[in-house]
Amino acid sequence: MTTHVGERVSRVDGRAKVTGKARYAAEHAAPDLVHGFVIGSAVARGTITRIDASQALALPGVLQVFTHENAPRLARGDKRWRDELAPPGSPFRPLQDAQIRWSGQPIALVVADSLELARHAASLVRVEVAPAPHETDLEAHRERAYKPPPHERPSVTPPSRGSADKAFARAPVRVQAEYRVPVEHHNPMEPFATTVVVDEDGTLTVYDKTQGVQNVQSYLTNIFGAGAGEIRVLAPFVGGAFGSGLRPQYQVVLAVLAARQLQRSVRVALTRQQMFTIGHRPTTWQRLSLAATRDGALAAAIHEAVAETSRFEDYSEAVVDWTGLMYRCDNVRFAHEVVALDLFTPMDMRAPGAMWGVYALECAMDELAVALGVDPLELRLVNYAERDGNEKRPYSSKELRACYHQAAERFGWSQRDPEPRSMRDGDLLVGWGMATGAWESTQRKASARAVLTADGRLAVASATEDIGTGTYTAMTQIAADALGLPLERVTFKLGDSALASAPVEGGSFTVASVGSAVDAVCRELRSKLLKLAQQLEGSPLARLRPEDVEFIGGLLRARADPSRALTFAEVLHRAGIDHLADEVTTRPSKAHEKYSRYTHSAAFAEVKVDPELGTIRVTRVVTAIAGGRVINPKTAESQVIGSVVWGIGAALQEHSVIDHALGRFITHNLADYHVPVHADVPDIEVILVEERDEIVNALGAKGLGEIGVVAVAPAIANAVWHATGKRIRELPITLDKLL
Ligand code: MOS
Repeated sequence: MTTHVGERVSRVDGRAKVTGKARYAAEHAAPDLVHGFVIGSAVARGTITRIDASQALALPGVLQVFTHENAPRLARGDKRWRDELAPPGSPFRPLQDAQIRWSGQPIALVVADSLELARHAASLVRVEVAPAPHETDLEAHRERAYKPPPHERPSVTPPSRGSADKAFARAPVRVQAEYRVPVEHHNPMEPFATTVVVDEDGTLTVYDKTQGVQNVQSYLTNIFGAGAGEIRVLAPFVGGAFGSGLRPQYQVVLAVLAARQLQRSVRVALTRQQMFTIGHRPTTWQRLSLAATRDGALAAAIHEAVAETSRFEDYSEAVVDWTGLMYRCDNVRFAHEVVALDLFTPMDMRAPGAMWGVYALECAMDELAVALGVDPLELRLVNYAERDGNEKRPYSSKELRACYHQAAERFGWSQRDPEPRSMRDGDLLVGWGMATGAWESTQRKASARAVLTADGRLAVASATEDIGTGTYTAMTQIAADALGLPLERVTFKLGDSALASAPVEGGSFTVASVGSAVDAVCRELRSKLLKLAQQLEGSPLARLRPEDVEFIGGLLRARADPSRALTFAEVLHRAGIDHLADEVTTRPSKAHEKYSRYTHSAAFAEVKVDPELGTIRVTRVVTAIAGGRVINPKTAESQVIGSVVWGIGAALQEHSVIDHALGRFITHNLADYHVPVHADVPDIEVILVEERDEIVNALGAKGLGEIGVVAVAPAIANAVWHATGKRIRELPITLDKLL
């Protein structure tokens, strides 16, 4: 029987995307559509004392300038403003008061007949502000750090164990180092945008750029006090998000607010510059203290981190727990604190927490290997964790050893001369570095609905997203296999708040969560169809056990005798019904609680450094990933390649620079904020390691959206040390730091 899961299926939505048929949030049309332009605060903290919009309003075609003075008062309590992903605190409420909390905060929305007019009119609005002193420098205010209240996970800091400080002091081999990482801004191709269509009956259809249509729908319903049926949120296509679209962004509030007030369809789209005024990956200070016995066994590990949050929300992410998880060690101490700054609340960004935490740990491990005089890969193998030391339980599966071996082999790691500056390519210094990665594998409650029609077609739907990850394709494959249908007879619908419930698309949990629901609902239809078929008069399948009937190519067929068969259409037709439908909700199994569930990776990188100029080029990356069953190797590899590119950017380029005098990010365009371009990206080799996992979910899929990024930046940083003999403990590693 042909199966689709595990095949390199091209994206089912690929054609729509490359032909421009796929519409994004700012591309939906509506009659008499008007345009909003956001005015952002020029100072980081203060109070608006006066807004004069008279010149703007005098222009023909300008409909309104919404400010805190004339905007409707929305919900009062914090609770109603808290979306599914909100950390503890008091979420930002656009245009609800005169206070300015960060530079770039929206303080007015100009609505006009055209975008150009709205933008011009915005330049005529006079804003007077009484500024207040602001603090945006994490390092300067580390003494204000506090332990954040728990957010989402039980805690971002697991309990310490043993006596790490004593063990560290006594150990024969020790390293201690501080690592600094910058703010990174999400830069998806599609900036945030919302098009609100006011329908004839007054209901609102909201096309929003988001990773969670139902999260946005319930948020809007809560803050506007609207009825459940009054607002529908759609996001059939999303041009990347990387975590920035997990929470509703302010433009969706402004667009809905304007549409309700004006009773007109409204579009609000952020500019690329404005994308640099919202959530971001937080800058984080870390100190790693690692100690080992002479044979390389870890004797103590201490991981301390201080990260930023905003003044109004306690954002935190799991930065330090990796140090107690990735290696075997009895004496571990964690400390994780945050400093509230006058910036917008940080947001999850691809592998939040692990990105910085594992970077520091894996660089420190490299430093320890050097101190011990052992190979960095050997050190990882000596300290390989067979169990999760934080939770004190086994892993549901862990093929990390296979990752190390396969990637090292492919890379040629055994040829490495451990001496720094020893390998050369002409005048260039060659460096080889490696690192380990880990990311959690989780499943959340999710539902899917499936309808099989008499024409033998299957339509499956769930309110999840495809942010470029391949959800459309993977779900189509899973559904097709569950019912034995060719791909072209299956459609999968997503990105509509009216569909069966699903969590936001994030945390690498979409295949595990929504995929499980899709698989389950299709299996449910399969049983129903068989039951119907067996009840037909003179059924060729009568009395066969379910396992003796195969579903193949739209047929039900006796395994033992292929001539005993019925098409799906025949079954429905003869049963006198035109369709079969069902909806199923799946949840993580009880077995989850007994196991730790993670994906793993190993990355090996080669860099070439010009000793005269300090320029660094990544020339090769080999990475092996163990992420359970792979639904689609093509989209999976694509995910990992994208992750590696990100890792290159994190190691060498990405850096949101704040001018602390202004309290503002000054690298606010793609010319100043560097991300890798084609010329920066070398040969990337992705190995998807075979891993069977019967605990995580029925599909055995652990999620691949984030694991690919985790090990890359430290592997490159370690390669730079190997090439040059210099430890640069601050990302990005730019030539000025190296020279
Ligand atoms: Mo991801 S940072 O959960 O989109």
